[in-house]
This record gives sequence, C-alpha cells and structure tokens, in this order.
Amino acid sequence: MRILFAPLQGYTTGIYRKAHAEIFGGVDAYYAPFLRIENGKPREKDLRDLNALEGNAREIPQIIANSVDEFKILADALIAKGYTEIDFNMGCPFPMQVNRHRGAGLLSDEQAVQEIMDVIRTAPAIVKGTAPVKFSVKMRLGQDSPDEAFALLPILNETPLSQITLHPRLGKQQYKGAIDFKSFEKFYAECRHPLVYNGDITTVSQICEMERRYPKLAGVMIGRGMLAHPSLAAEYKALCRKDETGSAQSSCRDINCAAPQDFLGKILQMHQIIFDHACQTYQGDSQILSHVQSFWEYLEPSIPKKIFKKIKKAGKLNEYQAAIIEITSHLP
Ligand SMILES: Cc1cc2nc3c(=O)[nH]c(=O)nc-3n(C[C@H](O)[C@H](O)[C@H](O)COP(=O)(O)O)c2cc1C
Repeated sequence: MRILFAPLQGYTTGIYRKAHAEIFGGVDAYYAPFLRIENGKPREKDLRDLNALEGNAREIPQIIANSVDEFKILADALIAKGYTEIDFNMGCPFPMQVNRHRGAGLLSDEQAVQEIMDVIRTAPAIVKGTAPVKFSVKMRLGQDSPDEAFALLPILNETPLSQITLHPRLGKQQYKGAIDFKSFEKFYAECRHPLVYNGDITTVSQICEMERRYPKLAGVMIGRGMLAHPSLAAEYKALCRKDETGSAQSSCRDINCAAPQDFLGKILQMHQIIFDHACQTYQGDSQILSHVQSFWEYLEPSIPKKIFKKIKKAGKLNEYQAAIIEITSHLP
C-alpha cells in the first residue's frame, strides 16, 4: 500500500520533506502544506517552499480556496511552476480558514464545490501548458455533519479525480475525538475514486490492519505519527519486502528495523540538514530557533525529558546547540 506523508503547516516544510526523504525515506509522496491567496495573489512564502525534492521522492502541492476564482489563480500558479498533480484541501478545520469558507468550511456548499469540480473536469482546456494535470482532494466528513460529505460524493464521483483522501472526523472536532469509522466505511463503499485513509496512524501494525480491513484502499496518509516516528514508512516498506521474499514470517506485526541509538542517530542527521538550512536562510537567534524548535515537538517521547525541556526553553542559539550536543551523548 502507498504511504503518503500528510502536510502539516509549520512542520513539514520544504527542507523537512527533503531531509526526511534523504535520511528515512519509505514515503511514496510528500504533500506540501496548502498554498493560499494573500492580497489577491498566491502567497509568495508558500510558493518559495515548494520544489524541495530531487530524485525519486514525489512532492505534491496543495491548494486551499473558497471559490472557483481563487482555485483557478492558485492552480495556474502551480501549473506555471511545472506541477502536473495538485491536491485540493477541503478539510482544514482552522477557524481562520473555515470562517473564510475554505477547507472544511467549503464542505457544506455544494454549488461552490460543483463549480470547482467543473473546472477540474475541463482542466486541460484551462491549462496553458500541454501536460495533463491530475487533481486530487483531501477532505473531512463535514464541518458539522457527515451528511455534507455524502451530499458531495455524487459530484466528486463524476469528476475525474486521481484520488480522495478522507480524514473521517468533522471540522468542529479539529484533530481530536472519535474517528467515525462507520461513515468512513460507507464512503469507502460508495466512492468511485482511489481512496486514501488519513487519521491517527502511529504504528506499522495499524497500517497493516487498515490494509487487511480495507483491501481496496489506495494508501494511507500519515502526519503526526510520521513526525513522531520518522522511520514508520521505511519500517512498513521493509516489512513488505520481507513478506515478498518470504524471508521472514509473513505476519503483520510491529518491527523495529533499527536499534533506538540508530534511530536517534538518524534523527540527528535529519536535524543537521534542517539546522544548517535555517542558519543559511534566516538571521538572528530567535528567527533561526523558531524554524528548528518545531522539529522536536512531536519527537518528545523519543528523547530524554530533561533535554527536550532545554530545547524548548532555549532562547539563544548556543543554549539550543548545547542541548543538541547532549543528545549526542546518548549515542553509542
Ligand atoms: C499543525 C497542523 C497543520 C496542518 N496543516 C495542514 C495543511 O496545510 N494541509 C492539509 O491538508 N492538512 C493539514 N493538517 C492536517 C494533517 O495533514 C492531517 O490530516 C491530520 O494531522 C490528521 O492526520 P494524522 O492523525 O496522521 O496527523 C494539519 C494538521 C496540523 C495538526
């Protein structure tokens, strides 16, 4: 099954995606956090953060829009940059976006979604270049009720989408509370596009369980679980390879490819790439620190508590670097 790295604004930055692909890998595609309109134009800062990957790892940009007009401006900007695959966000639950009729705030507006899907249907005609552009959708069940997704499904089924990623929660739940598997199963049964599951996956055995329960599933998209455990995708792929060659028991169970010290060593390698990039790109301790401290946020369980606190509290670059050196002392 395909493993997709979910976009997380502020965490899965261009340099994070590049460093992850280089050090851990195992991911079939990295989704970039959404590109949005600012002062009538595609936000420059978001555009600059794209094109991070070279080689085999794929990067798929994402857009968030409240109307067909915003959608066209953003899609055109990405097509002009040479992208031939674009993901459309209909799931963001942040009030700043929802209140502006974007993300999960669009799910209750069948007419606006229909207009955007009409543009996708005629995409090659609106595209100035020649390469056909593929569109996918990342969505929730609704902002207030799962009825919203089921009202949209006939429209989505009629649109030539390359895939739908479903996070089976409501916008009003944000990222907490129960996942609605009953609605997910109904959507899985009725959706005519390749379907990707997203939400709360943190272990290899959970990936395997999804594969077993939903054999038609095109993939799983993982966000926080991958930030906390960056080797997750590679561990799953290693298990699949072993199963193929029959060199290991073909049971789906959690495997530990690497000893904890190896894991920490790789985390430090990945951090070094991000740290060097921040030092080259930003100026002043506080700017640099704001770009590197977020790397550790989801990794809290993997490093000693005392060091984690020092990283979080560091207000000067030398305090931060001293904390990182302390992690090195935990390596063999
Ligand atoms: C801080 C934060 C930022 C996010 N930014 C985006 C985004 O830009 N685009 C998007 O589609 N989803 C975004 N998400 C949602 C994630 O992609 C993902 O759907 C969510 O975290 C649930 O998956 P997980 O349980 O595997 O983390 C964000 C989530 C968080 C917590």
